[in-house]
Amino acid sequence: MDGGGEAATPTTHPAVQPLSFLLGTWKGQGEGGFPTITPFQYFEEVTFSHHPSKPVVAYSQKTWKLKDSGEAQPMHGESGYWRPKPDGTIEVVIAQSTGLVEVQKGTFDAKEKIVALRSELIGNATKVKEISRRFKVVNDELTYVVEMATTATSLQSHLKASLKKL
Ligand code: HEM
Repeated sequence: MDGGGEAATPTTHPAVQPLSFLLGTWKGQGEGGFPTITPFQYFEEVTFSHHPSKPVVAYSQKTWKLKDSGEAQPMHGESGYWRPKPDGTIEVVIAQSTGLVEVQKGTFDAKEKIVALRSELIGNATKVKEISRRFKVVNDELTYVVEMATTATSLQSHLKASLKKL
């Protein structure tokens, strides 16, 4: 045992074990849209990390696009903490690079490798009223959908991405 806390090793905190399918670093591409904006594409890297002494998963995400020169141009970033509970519910806090903060609550399914979240609280937002996030892992591919409702629209898709484990 190396104490690294990776995947479903005995050193994973028992509370985090059911979420071990997320642990690690994922990289891939996504596409964004909304009725009020021009569709766009992006690259993304997400890391779910964990220390075996804590019942929490640390989350960090960054996105970028490539300039014509090939240089990476940062887009949105966010980070937070995921706290799974023994009853299959989960609470997540996320701070976004735009200044918006989220408290998300939802459920996870360790067998189906799904996490479904819906915002309970959104702070410091000008337009956003509600955010839902749904993650699924199939064969080492992490896909997610982010939907949002704004002052002008009902809940609908803003982001979709597909990431591979590094
Ligand atoms: C636009 C929220 C994640 C890129 C917007 C708008 C909102 C928003 C409220 C403006 C919509 C409107 O004007 O009606 C959010 C929230 C996010 C999120 C709540 C996370 C939960 C991201 C990510 C990216 C991104 C990860 C990039 C990879 C953009 C772009 C626009 C946009 C490019 C269009 C900007 C423009 O046309 O001026 N987003 N966003 N967003 N978002 Fe996001």
